Amino acid sequence: MKQVCATCHEATFINNYFQRVDAQVKNYNNYFNAANKMLKELKAKGLIKSDVWSDPFFKLYYYLWHHEGRRMRQGAAMGSPDYAHWHGVFQVMQDIREMQDIYNYRMKMLKKYGSAKKVLENEPPMPVVTHE
Ligand code: HEC
Repeated sequence: MKQVCATCHEATFINNYFQRVDAQVKNYNNYFNAANKMLKELKAKGLIKSDVWSDPFFKLYYYLWHHEGRRMRQGAAMGSPDYAHWHGVFQVMQDIREMQDIYNYRMKMLKKYGSAKKVLENEPPMPVVTHE
């Protein structure tokens, strides 16, 4: 791809561009890996609702990937700091914190009830802040 850019841009500009984008993707992957790890553990313990779209953890997982995650990465690729930062990583950071809260709560309640079904049935409503 760099060869294509080199038709019009000089090497330092091109290398800086790819360094910036790759670093942002790497940064995003840290959040995504943490989210995936929690999802995997919750699933293994039966702590994700069968209707995933009524599950606050899963909804956040989706937004972290599909909405703010996309803006975080593409915002950097397209030279748009407002999207990369405020509509991107800033919201990704909030998602992961809310996901951690739900994860911790469910793990704690599993210890208390000893049944994943009971944990999900007795969970208070957890409104998800969506960042459309
Ligand atoms: C055919 C020539 C051409 C090619 C090929 C090209 N660019 Fe550009 N690029 C331009 C021009 C001209 C501008 C300035 C456009 C403007 O300011 O309206 C620009 C602007 C940019 C900017 C915005 C710079 C800024 O400070 O706003 C980035 C980033 C960029 N190009 C990256 C790339 C990358 C990465 C590639 C390869 C994948 C690429 N360009 C390929 C001609 C090209």
